[in-house]
Amino acid sequence: MSTLKAVRGTRDLLPPETALWNRIEATARAVFARYNFGEIRTPVFEDTGLFARGVGEETDIVSKEMYTWEDRARAQSEKPQSLTLRPENTAGVVRAYIEHGLGESGQLQKLYYMGPQFRRERPQKGRYRQFSQIGAEVIGPPSAGSESPLRDAEVLEMLASLLDELGISGWTLELNSVGSPADRARYNEALRAALVPVVSQMCEDCKRRAVTNPLRVLDCKVPADQPIIDTLPVIADSLDEASKAHFAAVTAALDAAGVPYTRNHRLVRGLDYYTRTTFEFTHGGLGAQNALLGGGRYDGLSEAIGGPKAPGIGFAMGEDRLVLTLLALNEQNAGAQKADAYIAPLGEGLNAAALTLARELRHQGLWIELGEGGFRLKKSFDAADKTARRIVILGEDELQSGILTVKTFSTGVQTKIPRTELAAFLSL
Ligand code: HAM
Repeated sequence: MSTLKAVRGTRDLLPPETALWNRIEATARAVFARYNFGEIRTPVFEDTGLFARGVGEETDIVSKEMYTWEDRARAQSEKPQSLTLRPENTAGVVRAYIEHGLGESGQLQKLYYMGPQFRRERPQKGRYRQFSQIGAEVIGPPSAGSESPLRDAEVLEMLASLLDELGISGWTLELNSVGSPADRARYNEALRAALVPVVSQMCEDCKRRAVTNPLRVLDCKVPADQPIIDTLPVIADSLDEASKAHFAAVTAALDAAGVPYTRNHRLVRGLDYYTRTTFEFTHGGLGAQNALLGGGRYDGLSEAIGGPKAPGIGFAMGEDRLVLTLLALNEQNAGAQKADAYIAPLGEGLNAAALTLARELRHQGLWIELGEGGFRLKKSFDAADKTARRIVILGEDELQSGILTVKTFSTGVQTKIPRTELAAFLSL
């Protein structure tokens, strides 16, 4: 019988790398708290209709990447419900916002989340079928200021600070505006017209997109198509005055705060709910899948799924990609850190005393690896050297006298330390 393996596109995360995941999550929580965000946890699966109506029937995500199944009907007369593993979390957050009447407080809702998402994409480095996002949404009634460009600028400034705090240097913020739905419709027509004379020279995907959804031509990565795409009209020219003013206010606030960005006219994003501001933070170290995170404004999403008017803006970071980037940047992997001490009992008869000593030290906040009295001393030293900064020898003499022998591996120095001073010494 063949051995079972993790399903293609999924993976196990193991120590020491998981320590890095924990550090990223802890840093994100701390930064979100400073910006007054609270955590929301939505279910991992939802009614399929939420994504069809929210993310958009025509998008790659909904049309070909979702894990969807029919739930068992409760009664024979009942139609089975179509359920889907969430491919992203924004639609779920907006559904929860509507379901719990969060807009009725009249306040902005500032919500963050972290957790697994599922897309049936072709797996490669930085792209998985189960991946983890850390995201946040700012959403509320227009009277709460949810449409203000200040909200966009604040979210972008928070992201710049968070990436810096994580130690991710060398990111680029790419910024664009996709305008109002009317602007976008106008732009789609302009693109459609501009594509007519050139599309025959383009790839098969673009030929199809030129008819079904011309905007998606801008996502094309085929090298031969790029010079043609560069000649197409840009969306900035299709924006109405209000969208232009909104974008100008976002960039003015970023300039004032000193957050650098570049305008990317092709950044239209792969989800249909976006209006006005769209953005991605990219990193050169990631290769083809270079987006660390993506996001934007979605002023019509709540209404599209049956809710009140509730403009919003948010983002999601690909946690897998943050980890890859930090590893590539030679991050001191937190998990590779060693324990403060390894306790080596000299003989099985001292195992219980060693557990007591370990308990004492752990209660004082030290990070202890407990050895095994059945090991020969050489084996204890080898194990200790791999897992801890120091070894504490606990023999019959040490137990009686209360004076312990401690060796520090980095210096090779061996010292005698009274048990009462051991915790203080080990924490140095
Ligand atoms: P998205 O651009 O589809 O946006 O995904 C956001 C980020 O998730 C990407 O930039 C990438 O880092 C990561 N990601 C996406 N797919 C994969 C994958 N297959 N494997 C690994 N990482 C992946 C959204 O999901 C929107 N909900 C963001 C948003 C929030 N917009 C407004 N609010």
